[in-house]
Amino acid sequence: MSRAAGYGLAGAGTGPLETLGAAKINLHLHVTGRRDDGYHLLDSLVVFADIGDRVVVDPWPLPAGAETVFRLTGRFAADLACTMPADNLAMRAAAALAGRVNRPLPRMIALDKRLPVASGIGGGSADAAAVLRLLSGAWGVPRPVVMDVAGQLGADVAMCVAACPARIAGVGEVVTPLGHPTARLLGGMGLVLANPLMPLSTPAVFKARAASGAVASAPASLPDAGDLPQLLAALADATNDLAPPARVLLPVIADVETALAALPGACFTRMSGSGATCFALFASPDAAKAASVRLAAARPSWWVAAGRVLAVAPEIRETPSAS
Ligand code: C5P
Repeated sequence: MSRAAGYGLAGAGTGPLETLGAAKINLHLHVTGRRDDGYHLLDSLVVFADIGDRVVVDPWPLPAGAETVFRLTGRFAADLACTMPADNLAMRAAAALAGRVNRPLPRMIALDKRLPVASGIGGGSADAAAVLRLLSGAWGVPRPVVMDVAGQLGADVAMCVAACPARIAGVGEVVTPLGHPTARLLGGMGLVLANPLMPLSTPAVFKARAASGAVASAPASLPDAGDLPQLLAALADATNDLAPPARVLLPVIADVETALAALPGACFTRMSGSGATCFALFASPDAAKAASVRLAAARPSWWVAAGRVLAVAPEIRETPSAS
């Protein structure tokens, strides 16, 4: 029997599989209420970048008594080194999915951490979602089961499984991918991400917002499709409700937003998620790249990355090794 047959996937190869744990960007984020358990209800439009962590899994079953090999590499690996492998959200995602579909754990999970940790662009959620995408593809797990497992791992994980332009509701687990015309409008736009390399705790930002006495926002009024100027004009009226409390906790965020907005060609600038990463949209990836070079030169202590908005989730491919 071939390994492909063992995976239950016609045509699947035998090697490890890889994909991108894509950075998540909130084009707007309205806090619309609060659940009894303290979690906040949100309305958000999210897109994903072709900038992210490289995530590799070997989905082949772990022999009895063995442990999943966990590899952590990359510029930001050290920020996670104090977390036990079993506590890493990516490992917890593999365990949760394997438990749900009664499969042995995978042999190996490798994360090449290219995104700053605790920075408002998904990070750990993107890695966990990438593991779910890789394993569910290899194991043939239906999407509703994957989304359910994702929703239990963290508020952002389900949207990171979708990894395409989407409207978000609930506490983050209600994910409605945008229709094709709007996804196509956003997909391919250029994007610059900038972070002052200071972590910001999501619960601390929500807490600071509550302490400020801020009231709930209405969901944003956004057109379903239309053209890009119409969408950006509607987004201009929407906000990131977490930006004011985040700026109180980390005033440098205002500098990051100002520096991004001043870049030539920047057409829309905001903070993402609970910060501190901010972003600017550009008409093209080339314009974003040119702007990022300027910003990186002007602010050498910041993390600056340029790329494009993804219209669809990053591809899954076989990889010869985890290195
Ligand atoms: O679910 P996740 O672990 O990503 O959330 C981290 C923290 O952020 C939660 O413990 C909660 O304090 C806060 N949060 C929230 N409302 C959300 C998402 C996160 O209050 N919708």
